[in-house]
Amino acid sequence: MGSSQILRSTNQKSLQNACRQMGSILELHPDLRKKVYEVAEVAGYLWQKGWAERNGGNITINVTDFVNSEICHLKPITEEKSIGLVLPAIKGQYFYCKGTGKRMRDLAKNPMENGSIIRISDDGAHYVIVADYPVQPTSELPSHLLVHNWFIESGSPYRATLHTHPIDLIAMSHHGPFLLKDVLTELLWSMIPETKAFCPKGLGIVPYCLPSSKELAEATLKELEDYDVVMWEKHGVFAIDTDIINAFDQVDVLNKSAQIYISAKNMGFSPSGMSKEQLQEMTKAFNLPK
Ligand code: 13P
Ligand code: ZN
Repeated sequence: MGSSQILRSTNQKSLQNACRQMGSILELHPDLRKKVYEVAEVAGYLWQKGWAERNGGNITINVTDFVNSEICHLKPITEEKSIGLVLPAIKGQYFYCKGTGKRMRDLAKNPMENGSIIRISDDGAHYVIVADYPVQPTSELPSHLLVHNWFIESGSPYRATLHTHPIDLIAMSHHGPFLLKDVLTELLWSMIPETKAFCPKGLGIVPYCLPSSKELAEATLKELEDYDVVMWEKHGVFAIDTDIINAFDQVDVLNKSAQIYISAKNMGFSPSGMSKEQLQEMTKAFNLPK
């Protein structure tokens, strides 16, 4: 490298560092900005729906595809921290994560003050924060990253994971008979045709586990082999999809069905639900999985 090239590259680095000091990494990276602002959009919906009391819920998205060499050269702004799991498929990858204790309603306005971008270390067992501020990622990081690791390992196009506290679905998880395999799936699908169309794999069930635990992460991953959305009994749901808007939509259609069921019950009757024949007709007409 010639001296002018060295000078240019040094200037570029100091420019990056100056920009970091002055503003957000998103200012120099419009594609990354778009993805992070999708998270902010969904965070706003979660708050408006009443599913995000205080710091309730968390979101992570894999942003590696939007990371260029400038971001790769960013120096960590925190010490390495353990994930608590070894996740070799995501080593060196980048994630935007909601911060632990941070509110969705605040994230909707200021995503980089209520979340951060992390890089997974080369051992797949640790992470560092690289931008903008040292905002510690969500306490549910083990569940989120275990699932992201599986996306990469299995060649899945999914890049977003969402945990939220939807009132009506959580209420239903307090009733034992609803937790038997596929009972809730069949019931929710039968409330309105769109639910099966837009959540075609239904709702898996994870029996109650301690929030943030490795057990919860492992049980979640097991259910996600068959479903795109899983219920965390008496806690919330965990949803996956290609992007965060689609993950949100799956929870939204399921919770709409739960509201229809509960509204009918409140009027004093059990809803009849779509018949088996009507559901089969839907499945055939829209080429949905059986
Ligand atoms: P965090 O604030 O750590 O993301 O936790 C919220 C939550 O819903 C835990 O299950
Ligand atoms: Zn939660």
